Amino acid sequence: MSSILIKNGKIVTPEATFIADIYIEGETIREIGKTIGTTAGITIDATGKLIFPGGVDPHVHLELPVAGTVSSDDYETGTRAALFGGSTTVIDFANQTKGHTLLEALETWKNRAHGNTFCDYSFHIAITDFNEKVKAEIGTIMAKEGITSFKTFMAYKGTMMIDDRQMLGIMDEVKKHGGLVSVHATNGDMIDFLTEKFKSQNKLTPRFHYLSQPEITETEAAGRFTDLAFLTGVNGYIVHTTCRGVLDKVREAVKRDQKVLVETCPQYLLLDASVYTDSIEAAKWVMSPPLRTEKDRDALWDGIRQGLIQTVGTDHCPFVWKDKLKGKDDFTKIPNGAPGIEHRMELLFSEGVIKKRISLNKFVEITSANAAKIFGLFPKKGAIASGSDADLVIFDPGKEHVISSSTHHHHCDYSIYEGWKVTGKVSSVIMRGRLAIDNDVIEIEKGYGKFLKRGLPEMAG
Ligand code: URP
Ligand code: ZN
Ligand code: ZN
Repeated sequence: MSSILIKNGKIVTPEATFIADIYIEGETIREIGKTIGTTAGITIDATGKLIFPGGVDPHVHLELPVAGTVSSDDYETGTRAALFGGSTTVIDFANQTKGHTLLEALETWKNRAHGNTFCDYSFHIAITDFNEKVKAEIGTIMAKEGITSFKTFMAYKGTMMIDDRQMLGIMDEVKKHGGLVSVHATNGDMIDFLTEKFKSQNKLTPRFHYLSQPEITETEAAGRFTDLAFLTGVNGYIVHTTCRGVLDKVREAVKRDQKVLVETCPQYLLLDASVYTDSIEAAKWVMSPPLRTEKDRDALWDGIRQGLIQTVGTDHCPFVWKDKLKGKDDFTKIPNGAPGIEHRMELLFSEGVIKKRISLNKFVEITSANAAKIFGLFPKKGAIASGSDADLVIFDPGKEHVISSSTHHHHCDYSIYEGWKVTGKVSSVIMRGRLAIDNDVIEIEKGYGKFLKRGLPEMAG
C-alpha cells in the first residue's frame, strides 16, 4: 500500500496549532505524532510550513448552462483549479428543471462530472418546481443518494424562483428527514421591478445591474427566509451573503434560538461596488447579489469573527469575456457570475490571517471544517485526525505571489483579482493519500476525484 510521511509541519485545526508528523497509508491518515519513525514511500519535509485540512468549497457552479451559454470551467478545469488552490472537495448544484424530477437533475449533473474531476465532489439539489411528486422524492434522495441539502431561489423570477408557499412545503419535508434548506436570498419581485424600470428608462449599462439589486432586496428575503425556517423548524443556510442587513436578520433569528447558518464569499469580503461603472469592463464583476460597500465588508469580517458566518464558498461561476460581452448594450444579458475557485484559501490567508482579521484556527474553520460538518462530510473531510481522508494542504505562509489571468488555472480569460499581491501559497496538496499538487505541478490524473454521498448536517458554529 502507498504511504506518505510528512515531517515537522505546523498542523492547524479549529482547536489547535502544533508541530507534529503525519503518517498516511493508502487514502487515510493513520497516525499523528511528535516523531514518527515509520519509513514511507514518500517523505515530505514540511519544516516551516503550515498544514491545513483540504479545503471544502461548498458553493461552485461548473459547466452550468446559463442563458444560451455555459460557465467556462468544466469539471476537469474547475476541479484542477480548485486543487491548485488547496480545495480538495467542492459541492456544486444540480438544478431541477421545470416538469422534471430531482433524480433527473442529479443524474444529469453526475454524468457531467463522472470521470472528469481531480478532486472529490458532491451536489446540492436546487428545487425549482415543487409539487407532491417532488415532495415524495426528498426522503429517498437523501437516503439513497446522500444528498442532504436542498437549494432554493427567492429570485431569478420566471426560471428558478419559488414562492413562499412552495418554500414552506420544501422546508416542512426537508425538516422531516433532518436535512438542510439553503437559499439564494434576494427578493425576485423587487429586482424584477427595478430591472424593468431601468430598462424602460434606457439605463442599460452594467452599473444598473448593481442598482437593480440594492441591499434591501437581500435583507428582505433573508428576513423572510429566517421567518419561514422558524415556522417550520428546518435547518437554514443562506448562501453568498454580501451585507450587514442580512447579518442583522440572522442575529434576530439567533436571539430566538434559531439555527441559521451563513456563507459568504471572498469577493464580498475583499471587493466593493466601486467597480460598477458604465463601462462594459464592469461586466467582469456582474454577479448576483452584487458587490457592496465598505460597511458591509466590515460587517462580514465581524460576522466571521463572531461565529455568525460559518463558511466561505467561492460561488465560482466564470464566463469567458466573449460571453460577458453579450451584455454590452443591455446589462440583463450579461451572464451572472465570476471566477474564484482557485484563490479562496490563499486570499483568505493573506487578507484574513496575515492582516490579523482572523486567527489561523478560524481560517481552518471557515475554509474546511465547518463546511464539512454542515454538509455531512465530517470527519472524513475537514479534519486532520487518524481515520480521516488524507486530504491535506502543505502551505508556505511567507511566499508572496500575484494573482493574474496569465497564471491562474481557471478557464477564464480575465481575473477579478488581477494584480492582487498575496502572501502565502499552496506548496503541495495531498488528495486522498496521493501527492496531487507539488510545486505548481499536478501529479494526479483526471477521474481521481469521486462523488461523495453525504450524511445529515451538523450545525457547526
Ligand atoms: O451571479 C451568480 N452568483 N451566479 C451564480 C448563480 C448564483 O446565483 O449563485
Ligand atoms: Zn445565487
Ligand atoms: Zn451560486
